[in-house]
Amino acid sequence: MNFDFPTIDQIPEEYKITTPVEQKVYLTNGELIEWKGETADVFSPIYIKTQPSLYTQFRIGSQPVMNKEATLAVLDNALKAYDNGRGEWATMRVKQRIEMVSHFAKRMKEKRDEVVKLLMWEIGKSLPDSQKEFDRTIDYIQETIDALKNLDRDSSRIQSNGGIYAQIRRGPLGIVLCMGPYNYPLNETFCTLIPALIMGNVVIFKPSKYGVLLHSPLLQIFCDCFPKGVINIIYGKGSETAGSLMETGKIDVLAFIGTSRVANILKKQHPQPNRLRGALGLEAKNPAIILPDADIKITVDELIAGSLSFNGQRCTALKIIFCHHSIQSQLVDAYKAKLATLVAGMPWDKNAMLTPLPEKGKTAYLQELIDDAIAKGASIINENGGEISYSYMHPAVLINVNSTMRIYHEEQFGPVVPIVTFSNINEPINYMVQSNYGQQVSVFGSNSVEIAKLIDPLANQVCRVNINSQCQRGPDVYPFNGRKDSAEGTLSVNDALRVFSIRTLVAAKNSDLNKHIVSEILEQRTSNFLNTDFIL
Ligand code: G3H
Repeated sequence: MNFDFPTIDQIPEEYKITTPVEQKVYLTNGELIEWKGETADVFSPIYIKTQPSLYTQFRIGSQPVMNKEATLAVLDNALKAYDNGRGEWATMRVKQRIEMVSHFAKRMKEKRDEVVKLLMWEIGKSLPDSQKEFDRTIDYIQETIDALKNLDRDSSRIQSNGGIYAQIRRGPLGIVLCMGPYNYPLNETFCTLIPALIMGNVVIFKPSKYGVLLHSPLLQIFCDCFPKGVINIIYGKGSETAGSLMETGKIDVLAFIGTSRVANILKKQHPQPNRLRGALGLEAKNPAIILPDADIKITVDELIAGSLSFNGQRCTALKIIFCHHSIQSQLVDAYKAKLATLVAGMPWDKNAMLTPLPEKGKTAYLQELIDDAIAKGASIINENGGEISYSYMHPAVLINVNSTMRIYHEEQFGPVVPIVTFSNINEPINYMVQSNYGQQVSVFGSNSVEIAKLIDPLANQVCRVNINSQCQRGPDVYPFNGRKDSAEGTLSVNDALRVFSIRTLVAAKNSDLNKHIVSEILEQRTSNFLNTDFIL
């Protein structure tokens, strides 16, 4: 296998971590508080070659392991900041909140290189993809600001219906617990955290298991840009932190991107299920369906990007390929040929697409899936497929996959590409009907009539049908959601603003007294809610 970890000297100077990132603080009450308790080492998926065949996992630094008591003290600060909806942030004019978030984004941009470097080291994401994650996040913040301006402009008028005047706005929900995933630790987290904040909620953010230290360069900026207690950042084990928060019943929204197993545990811990709103992005097993007349070049380009971008660690990745028997040998040959051109290496290596995997025990899990499939009749068809070097696994393309195998059902979230041969189109459709997941599908073919016949049944199984295109979340203005165990709620630039807020109105019967009161409030600008300001 053409893959090796570097010696320390082979790492370009600009990407070296020369001083470990020992993060000793957490953020609450507008302050970075020193954590004096237990800490945990943070290791990179990247190993360093110290001698010809001796490799050591690189230690990036450490993070606090907060306990229940400290976490609940943070919750108290969040509750004080929200003050049952009477806090400064929750009642502030939208224009002012927008200005603060804008200022945050401006300062965040200055930290691009630091965050990108940590993204590479912590989760093994390639340099261009790490840069894209950062830039996409900044764009998302700007788009969110623009969307909120539009929303607020639409709400900036009093309407009259059935003898009742009303102004309808969207108000905050309360305390939001935000937990992002390790594969997009910055982008996916900020896609909930920023809309939650800008709508006037108070946020407690716990970074994912991997991809923690990359937030360190942003802590001071969070502290400087928002009123105290409005954004709180905590660290530690899920059970001690997120679990303890949910048990109090004081969390109003759970914004969680991860597994349905953990989401279920967290939701069940909340004693008042009707109070709790959920914005959940969970597992998926998006299929690609290759019809007999698919264009091989387009299909293979999309399949490679869909199945192996960030080593298959995307919730939207193509995780199972259904290929019509008449086109399979051509498709497999072309897929193999393209796969052989992909570069494996370190995140900063030029053109490297295949990189080490951050999750502890991940290569062993993927090996189990491969062994199970092979024992039941599948075979690996690419050179070095499935070979492992510490945290790196070379992609394994499996053919003859069937429903008896674990890889057919389980979300591998890694570089294993199962191919199922089909003769009857009902086979992939039934797969989707029976699946626990319902995020997206990709259909590859050239005949519009055949594709049209698939669009209607598939659109009721998943939430996005992609034609001759890989599955993906973007552009971020499009709705991103899923059926069954794949998601709860819809996220997008516009939808997220709605998810983290509730329509609220101030209404008054059309009497002289009420007209007088409303007019005076508007003229004297004594309310932040009841006002007709138009944000430019
Ligand atoms: O992991 C799930 C991400 O939301 C996928 O986003 O399709 O842009 O890679 P993406």
